[in-house]
Amino acid sequence: MIPILRTVAEMRPLVRGWKAQGQTVGVVPTMGALHEGHLSLVRAAKAGTDRVIVTIFVNPKQFNSADDLAKYPRTEEADAALLAPLQVDAVFAPAPDAVYPAGFATTVSVAGVAGPLDGALRPGHFDGVATVVTKLFGMTLADRAYFGQKDWQQLQVVRRMAVDLNLPVDIIGCETLREADGLAMSSRNTRLSASDRQTAPSLYAAMVAAASAMRLGEPAAAALPRAEARLLASGFEAVEYLALRDAETLDAAADLSRPLRLLAAAWLGGVRLIDNISV
Ligand code: PAJ
Repeated sequence: MIPILRTVAEMRPLVRGWKAQGQTVGVVPTMGALHEGHLSLVRAAKAGTDRVIVTIFVNPKQFNSADDLAKYPRTEEADAALLAPLQVDAVFAPAPDAVYPAGFATTVSVAGVAGPLDGALRPGHFDGVATVVTKLFGMTLADRAYFGQKDWQQLQVVRRMAVDLNLPVDIIGCETLREADGLAMSSRNTRLSASDRQTAPSLYAAMVAAASAMRLGEPAAAALPRAEARLLASGFEAVEYLALRDAETLDAAADLSRPLRLLAAAWLGGVRLIDNISV
């Protein structure tokens, strides 16, 4: 059985014991409802550090609506069962008031990279992420932290914050795990109807097609509207953004000699799907 810890007071002696023996500690922050994408981060952490802590915390500060927060799946028993064969060393699953006790008054706010795209569409979201991730680093004393490229902007926000605040944590970005048809794995995929699930892989397919057209020299101003039209024709209700950006800063892709990233958010059957690929 993996120990499930609820408080920092329980976790600290455990982590200090590991560190006293010279062992390195990896953390995989999650909000639970675990799937293979999350487990791939856990496997990377197992390969990269001596001890692995998986955190499961549905962070109220990063949700834009109370309804969305209430609807977020909470499946702790199933999560623990998925983690058991991977032999993680601890699960840290605190209650909200163990993370945000009365009097809590600090926000970590990243400018620049947290501003556009999801930063503009989901006000306060990245403040909530940066604040909880900073706390999780302090709580777990991790040497390395593992994040998915699936949430590309989040990964860049965390990298920026770790550099800016001199946090003594190596940030490791792990490849997006996909279903066989290309759809990026996500806890939201289970909310798609059977027919929308058939449509969903068009998002990745349209992005791959646009990226290869742009690599061959087609201007973004032609390739991106065509990809967007293809998504709307295939059944997506709306495309919030389909944007070619500097991969690190997420600024408009002005300097084409720097790494670029194509990022998208689109609605299908009332579910908001996001994805990103390199260009
Ligand atoms: P959550 O959505 O649970 O995701 C936890 C981690 O799993 C993130 O780093 C995310 O990028 C990664 N992940 C999700 N789907 C993936 C996939 N298909 N392939 C690879 N990695 C994938 O992201 C969060 O939680 C929260 O914002 C958190 C960082 C925990 C802060 O609350």
